Amino acid sequence: MDVLQELETRREAARMGGGAKRIAAQHSKGKLTARERIELLLDADSFEEFDMFVAHRCTDFGMEKERPAGDGVVTGWGTINGRLVYVFSQDFTVMGGSVSETHGQKICKIMDMAIQNGAPIIGINDSGGARIQEGVASLAAYGEVFQRNVTASGVVPQISLIMGPTAGGAVYSPAMTDFIFMVKDSSYMFVTGPDVVKTVTNEQVTAEELGGASTHTKKSSVADAAFENDVEAIAEVRRLIDFLPLHNREKPPVRPFFDDVNRIEESLDTLVPDNPNMPYDMKELIHKLADEGDFYEIQEEFAKNILTGFIRLEGSTVGVVANQPMVLAGCLDIDASRKAARFVRFCDAFDIPILTLVDVPGFLPGTSQEYAGVIKHGAKLLFAYGEATVPKVTVITRKAYGGAYVVMSSKHLRGDFNYAWPTSEIAVMGAKGATEIIHRADAGDPEKIAKHTKDYEDRFANPFVAAEKGVIDEVIMPHSTRKRICRAFASLRTKKVQTPWKKHDNIPL
Ligand code: HXC
Repeated sequence: MDVLQELETRREAARMGGGAKRIAAQHSKGKLTARERIELLLDADSFEEFDMFVAHRCTDFGMEKERPAGDGVVTGWGTINGRLVYVFSQDFTVMGGSVSETHGQKICKIMDMAIQNGAPIIGINDSGGARIQEGVASLAAYGEVFQRNVTASGVVPQISLIMGPTAGGAVYSPAMTDFIFMVKDSSYMFVTGPDVVKTVTNEQVTAEELGGASTHTKKSSVADAAFENDVEAIAEVRRLIDFLPLHNREKPPVRPFFDDVNRIEESLDTLVPDNPNMPYDMKELIHKLADEGDFYEIQEEFAKNILTGFIRLEGSTVGVVANQPMVLAGCLDIDASRKAARFVRFCDAFDIPILTLVDVPGFLPGTSQEYAGVIKHGAKLLFAYGEATVPKVTVITRKAYGGAYVVMSSKHLRGDFNYAWPTSEIAVMGAKGATEIIHRADAGDPEKIAKHTKDYEDRFANPFVAAEKGVIDEVIMPHSTRKRICRAFASLRTKKVQTPWKKHDNIPL
C-alpha cells in the first residue's frame, strides 16, 4: 500500500511543477501552465505521459540540491479528435523551462516515437533557453533536437506553439517545423535580444517589437499565425491537425461533409468585374468553392497578394494557392513567391492535392525586387510547382501574363487539369504594354495605338487561343467551378508520377 501511495505522492509533486507560487506567476502573465496547455490541446483523458520522473544530472552550482521531477518539460502522446499526436510542453515554472541535457532527451524521445509511428509532433515552447548551469551539455541537447527536426521534416507534420520566450539558437527548432503559431503580447522569438541589439547596433527596441507575434506574422514571416491568448492558439492547432495527414505515407483525412458537390454558384458569373483593372476579392471565390465555405488560411497577415491555406472538397483536404487582385493587383513578388513556394512544398511532401486560382498580371517590377533577388525567389515557386507530383488543378479567372502564367501551376509544370473562365486573358503581357512594344512606330498616333490595342485584346484577352493549343484543358462556366474541380480531384485520387532518381533537388534558396 505504501508504494502505491508513494507513486501518487510523487505524481502529485511532479504535477505541481515549480510550485503554487510560480504557477500563480505564470497565470498572472495571462499564460497557462504546461499541463493546462496539453489538457486543452488533446482530447479529454487521452494524454499519456512519458518521463514524468526524469530529473537533471547536473552537480555544478549546487544544482544537485534541486532536482524537480520532469525537469521543466512535460512530454507524451494523446489524440486530437481521435487521431494520434505526440507533444512536448515546456514548463516555465521549473527553472524557466530551460533546456538541460535530460530535458532535451525527453523531447528527443517523443520525437523519435513520432517519426517511428508516423504521427505529428506538436511542440509548446515556453523557455528561458539553454540551462545556463549545464553549459555545453545543454547546447548538445538542442543539437540533438535540431537533428530530429530535420529528420522529421517531410515525414510527419511538425507544429510549434510559441507561448513564452524563445531566444538565441533555441529559435531554430521551431524555425525548422512546418507551422509556427504565436500568442500576442506573451511570446517572442529572436536570435539576439534587445540588450545585445542595443550594444551592437545602438538600436532601441522592445522584445515585442523585435520578435513579438505581430513582427513575425507581418514583417518577417517566421510565424504563420498570431492569436490573442493560449486558448485560442491551441484551439486553432486542433483545427489545423484535422486537415493534415498524420504522416507522409498516409492520404489526407476525409471527413463527413454536408455540402452539395454539384452546388452551383451563380454569383461567380459576375465575380470578375468588366473593367480588367478593377480588383475583386479572391477569398470570395475560395469560400464559395470550399465545403461549407471553410478556408483555413496560412500566413494571412504576410504577402497578402497571395493567399495560401486549406479547404476541403468532398471532405478531403486540398491546399489552395491563389493570387489576390485586391493587393498589388495580385502581382507575384519575393514575399509572395516564398510564401507560396513553402506552402506548395508542404502540400507535396504530405500528399495534399493543390488547387491554384490564377489572376496574375506578372512579377512586381522595381530595383528593390531585383536587388533583393526576385529571380531566385520567384524561381522557388516555379521550382516548387514543377517538382510537385500531387494532383494539381488550376483555374484561371482573369489575367495570366508572362512568366507568372507559367509559374502558377500551368500545364507546362505538369498541371493535371487547367481550367479557364471565359473572362481569362492568357498573354505575354497586357494589351497596352504589348502594343507599345510591337507598334512603337505608331507611338505618336493615339488612334492607331487604340486600334492596335483593340486588335491585341481581341486576339489574346480571352482563353480561346490557349484552349486551341491545348494548354488550357477546358473553358468552364464560373458558376460550375466547384463541381468541375471536385470531379477533377476525384479522378486524380490514384495519380502516380515517376521521377528520375536523385538524392535530393537543389531548389534555389
Ligand atoms: C537556468 C533559468 C534560465 C536559464 C530562466 N531561468 N532562464 N535557469 N537557465 N536559461 C530561471 C530563473 O533563474 C528563474 O528561477 C526562473 O527561471 C524564471 O526566470 P525569471 O527571470 O524570474 O523570469 P522572467 O522575469 O519572466 O524572465 C524570463 C527570461 C529570463 C527573460 C527568459 O529568465 C532570462 O533572461 N533568462 C536567461 C535567458 C538566457 O540568456 N538564456 C540563454 C540564451 S542562449 P527561479 O528559481 O527564480 O524561479 C540559448 C542558446 C541556445 O538559449 C542555443 C541552442 C543551440
